[in-house]
Amino acid sequence: MIRVSLLITNIGELVTNAPDATDGARPAGPGPFAAIADAALVVEDGRVAWTGPARQAPAADEMTDCGGRAVLPGFVDSHAHLVFAGERSAEFAARMAGTPYRAGGIRSTVAATRQASDGQLRANAGRLAAEMLRQGTTTLECKSGYGLTVDDERRSVAAAAGITGDVTFLGAHVVPPEYEADPGAYLDLVCGPMLAACAPQARWVDVFCERGAFGADEARAVLAAGKAAGLLPRVHANQLGPGPGVQLAVEAGAASADHCTYLTDADVDALAAGATVATLLPGVEFSTRQPYPDARRLLDAGVTVAVATDCNPGSCFTSSMPLCIALAVREMRLTTQEAVWAATAGGAHALRRADVGHLGVGARADLVLLDGPSHAYLAYRPGVPLVAAVWRQGELSAGARPAA
Ligand code: NIG
Ligand code: FE
Repeated sequence: MIRVSLLITNIGELVTNAPDATDGARPAGPGPFAAIADAALVVEDGRVAWTGPARQAPAADEMTDCGGRAVLPGFVDSHAHLVFAGERSAEFAARMAGTPYRAGGIRSTVAATRQASDGQLRANAGRLAAEMLRQGTTTLECKSGYGLTVDDERRSVAAAAGITGDVTFLGAHVVPPEYEADPGAYLDLVCGPMLAACAPQARWVDVFCERGAFGADEARAVLAAGKAAGLLPRVHANQLGPGPGVQLAVEAGAASADHCTYLTDADVDALAAGATVATLLPGVEFSTRQPYPDARRLLDAGVTVAVATDCNPGSCFTSSMPLCIALAVREMRLTTQEAVWAATAGGAHALRRADVGHLGVGARADLVLLDGPSHAYLAYRPGVPLVAAVWRQGELSAGARPAA
């Protein structure tokens, strides 16, 4: 096979999240926020082969001129629920008129998902993944959790596997209506036959640890069973009120505790002392009118923070990482650098991925070209389609072209 190298040059700001790598060093994963002004980047074999000042760039087989615009690592959306059928716009409209968000709404999506064919589930998930890609998301995590029978969870996980390698088994989303009188039997199903049917196609196990969903002991049992089946834990924690989810996630060695909307000092201390990422989902607060999480408190305590969409038909139906970055800056007081880092390198940490979320030499060549000279434009120009081009593993994605 002929190796074709691509020089992407005249980049006004190249966000790398990696130490200066002109010496060819290969970082083991994302570092702190880092950017190079007036930069260039070389792609070879789908990987980043070189980054540095444009005037020092080596020759390559092909060249793209970015006209002074910014290039970032592709966004890493580490929390999404894309396998479902139906929609809940009436629930959203009622919420905007004053009805509070409740976990029980999940059941209406469960009913629609069970009715849908495999083809419909795959097509819906594929459409949303394509929508994400157009907005700069090059890595995504996708959960099951709207099937809640052995077969419906199995086919949900299979549909998720069609769009990503980061598939999460979320049989413990809520107790479905047919088990309302016997939630213990549902837990046995989740930890037994459902897990056995789903684990071969999943990488992660998740549980919605919340009043109205699963308590601490049940959540512990789900994570332990998942780990025994070879899955890595992550937790929906402290979304609707204070609770045991965050500390349980740290105790289980979860890669991420997601939502973190209601935190006590002990929760923040546990996150700061452990290795669990706090994944914040500001689109949920935007779409449910809940208070935003206290992100500054987490950052000031030294907790690693990721930002993701939580794209799902109930609590937040946005697929837009640029919107979530803008919300993180405006509503959660992250700096523009912190927000972009959380949406790229932070997401990579939350998925324990060293190959994405940064543009160090050896990283996957997943790139976003912005119609703007700096990363700050993502928050400075909220709601504007700024993603001019997306490369995934060095391939320019259709529908987004670099020409100015
Ligand atoms: O992450 N919290 C649990 N699950 C989703 C909401 C799902 C729904 O409302 O359909 C979430 O917000
Ligand atoms: Fe979620």
